[in-house]
Amino acid sequence: KVKLKDGLLLSGSGLPDVYAAKGFHFHWGTGVDQPGSEHCIDGKRYSMELHIVHTRNNMSMSEALDDPQGIAVLAFFVQGSDSAKGKTVKAWKSFSKNLQRIAKKGSDTKLRGNVSLHDLIGPTDLARYYRYSGSLTTPNCNEVVIWTVFTEPILVPFKVVAFFPFNLRSTDSSVGPHQKNNFRPLQRLHNRMVEASALLKPPLATTGATQPVVPNLSVLGIDVLGVLPI
Ligand SMILES: *[C@@H]1O[C@H](CO)[C@@H](O)[C@H](O)[C@H]1NC(C)=O
Ligand SMILES: *[C@@H]1O[C@H](CO)[C@@H](O)[C@H](O)[C@H]1NC(C)=O
Ligand SMILES: [Zn+2]
Repeated sequence: KVKLKDGLLLSGSGLPDVYAAKGFHFHWGTGVDQPGSEHCIDGKRYSMELHIVHTRNNMSMSEALDDPQGIAVLAFFVQGSDSAKGKTVKAWKSFSKNLQRIAKKGSDTKLRGNVSLHDLIGPTDLARYYRYSGSLTTPNCNEVVIWTVFTEPILVPFKVVAFFPFNLRSTDSSVGPHQKNNFRPLQRLHNRMVEASALLKPPLATTGATQPVVPNLSVLGIDVLGVLPI
């Protein structure tokens, strides 16, 4: 879990309010062997998932847990890839070096290296995403989250993916079990609506309309994605 300084704000694109970023964290599987993203798209699970957590109007986390739209999470897939390259890879390598210094459960450190969240996200297409109302994926799984799930994965070397379970332990012993598979199982969609941004919406064949370039949300229907985590 990385705490962020005050001042990173999120609004527009269908969000009901201004949300303030509080921090970010990750979910992963066993490293290279088994992927551990929390969301799946058409059944595909990615290596890891990055969550940037925001609260409505800069509420405290405990206040946000009492508001049905108290939290907005931006979710990015992170995929191990042999073709990962460039500035984004540099940022992830520099960032993940910090993991060695927080190996034990409960430990913390000041982030070293010149890493920005912007560099970690890299050139990911922010106009293609899904939106739905769901919950936190860790107990108590409060149903207070507006989820935004970007479809284009951030590509990182497999070595970076492996670094997370390899370095982090699930107890306060430096030889304790490795921290792995920290993702919530898929949940039923129930009667929830999943929306797609305009650039994800299938073309309107009958009208011949061209795809709008602005990331307006459009309703996709609830049967398209099948099962998603809540
Ligand atoms: C946001 O909340 C944090 C902690 O609750 C507080 O320190 C900070 O001053 C707040 N920022 C604004 C702009 O209100
Ligand atoms: C950190 O990175 C930013 C952007 O990548 C750059 O503008 C800045 O000069 C760097 N700072 C240091 C101390 O290297
Ligand atoms: Zn999360």
